[in-house]
Amino acid sequence: MNQTSLTQTLSQLPLGEIRYFDSIGSTNDEALKWAQSGARDMSILVADEQTLGRGRMDRPWFTPPGTALAFSMVLRPTLDEKPHLSRLVGLAALSIAQTLQTFRLSPQIKWPNDILLNQRKVAGVLIELVWAGDEVACVVIGIGINVLKRAVPGTDILRFPATSLEDALGNAVDRENLLRNTLSAFIDLRPQLGGDLLMNKWGELLAYRGRQVRVEMGGDRTVAGRLEGILSDGSLRIRDDNGKSVTVNFGDVRLRPFTDILKNKATNV
Ligand code: BTN
Repeated sequence: MNQTSLTQTLSQLPLGEIRYFDSIGSTNDEALKWAQSGARDMSILVADEQTLGRGRMDRPWFTPPGTALAFSMVLRPTLDEKPHLSRLVGLAALSIAQTLQTFRLSPQIKWPNDILLNQRKVAGVLIELVWAGDEVACVVIGIGINVLKRAVPGTDILRFPATSLEDALGNAVDRENLLRNTLSAFIDLRPQLGGDLLMNKWGELLAYRGRQVRVEMGGDRTVAGRLEGILSDGSLRIRDDNGKSVTVNFGDVRLRPFTDILKNKATNV
């Protein structure tokens, strides 16, 4: 992967500027700076290695050289899109999931931002906003996909089981093509941001739907119940154990299938 080959691979897509780095702290950090200094809509920043990659809730995200796809895109949302920005995480997750489906894999989306293969996390999405007063000027969407086995960190630091495309397919895939196909899916889905189609497709791929889950919301607050689905603003609906409907918004939340919790308790992890 390099600037020339990347520019060539992505040449047919309607993108802004493309920037490639052999190594960087975090593509999201760099894209946030770029957004503030005027990056055009759909500008893309890709790195072979991240030394300070970040996940949600400031967790580290590992991107050793040559093993993963790590990129950020800068979006300048239109007036029509602005009321629906909370759905962007679903749009991004769905773009990844649809791309993985072309490999005959069966991805699921673990709300809010994880893509699973065989119940293990293969990719994540990190969305950050750039404000101009009380208006969102830009959105940075960071995507990390574990391509090779070596992209998966050791079990000692994992909070959720992880996997890679190499694990799932038995072979490596070309990272530039993976990027092109993910971006292409995103561009095709983007006009659906405010529509029902996105919500239906997101709902279809939702992990643990109809199953017993537990949502940990920071502090001691947890909700246990049946995962019913996603509401139109992208929040999660749970039917709690007393039969009450509970809405969970993005933020510092962790979603766990009930069996996983039992297992974790048993092993005291
Ligand atoms: C998560 O699972 O919590 C989100 C992971 C997002 C990782 C990607 S890799 C590219 C971009 N740059 C970062 O520092 N993070 C995102």
